[in-house]
Amino acid sequence: MKKIKVNDAVGGETLASVIMGESGSVLLYEGAILNSEHISKLIDNNIEEICIRDDVVKESILYTIETIEKDSIGQIKDAVHRRLRMGEDSDLKIIEETAVNIIKNVVNNVDVASCMVDIKRDSGELYSHMLNVASLSAIMGIKEGFSEHQLRCVTEGALLHDIGLTKVTVPYENVEMDTMPAADKLNYRKHVISGYQILQNFKWMEETTKLIVLSHHERINGSGYPFHKTEERLPDEVKLVAICDHFDELVNGIGYERHKVYEVVEYFRTNGAALFDYRMTTGIMNDIAWFPNGSTVLTNEGEVALIIGQNHSLPDRPIIKVLRTADGKECEGEVIKDLTEYLTVFIIDTID
Ligand SMILES: [Fe+2]
Ligand SMILES: [Fe+2]
Repeated sequence: MKKIKVNDAVGGETLASVIMGESGSVLLYEGAILNSEHISKLIDNNIEEICIRDDVVKESILYTIETIEKDSIGQIKDAVHRRLRMGEDSDLKIIEETAVNIIKNVVNNVDVASCMVDIKRDSGELYSHMLNVASLSAIMGIKEGFSEHQLRCVTEGALLHDIGLTKVTVPYENVEMDTMPAADKLNYRKHVISGYQILQNFKWMEETTKLIVLSHHERINGSGYPFHKTEERLPDEVKLVAICDHFDELVNGIGYERHKVYEVVEYFRTNGAALFDYRMTTGIMNDIAWFPNGSTVLTNEGEVALIIGQNHSLPDRPIIKVLRTADGKECEGEVIKDLTEYLTVFIIDTID
């Protein structure tokens, strides 16, 4: 790390520490790579000296971007192959490739990557929630026919939507925040405002992206927060991320207790129409695997089985490989059952 005069900065230097303005607000984050706009901003705010990283540290920030890119791509592949049960294989390949390219572009921005590092440092659960929501939102945005610009906003917004939770001081993982004391609930709900405030410093960022962060807990009937916006005041990008976010926060327990995937799909089918865009919700829920590949389930016949494949038209009738028979013995040989052919066999629960 070394100190240099702002007037000597030429662009391309990496900030070694956060730069605060006179009012206490953040001007630039640690890890930001300076450009001419940043330098002008520092001069306008009477900042004379800054600390920059030397080459060794610069390499480590690039490594961080690489790690986030790798994690994000892993989540997209996982969503496509394990969590979803969509149509033809060729469509899946195109969707996967497009989603991977979008996410690569988004995380290659050092401001975005720096935020993700903060999130990862704060909570591994939150980090993986952000990646899950971003990959699901990107995939569903592609299926919705969103433009390239919309997809970028959706992915970027989804990747950062809960950054404000890094400022929340109450526990929110695997906890029903709605039943918490009013002060705790308020503390939690403030994350949408603090997240928006963090991103406000990024002049390059689209307003739609910032709006996703501010509005992802709004609901079309006005029952959401922070502004009780209704359907007509919520752009499609926000509506899409709101569905993907709520799906994953219920499954992974962010602000809610954890639920099983099939319970969450059932919840959306029962309550979704009042709270979320109906068409988008139906489309997304149709593509979610009720029992994801790789999960272990219990059948009504008492067998323990592994999910090894999906039937696209019947989400509750996947293909299973029996691991244990009804009497608790390990299954001898390979017993595969396509539940569209075994009509009396039902999955009654998943086993963690
Ligand atoms: Fe949130
Ligand atoms: Fe979230």
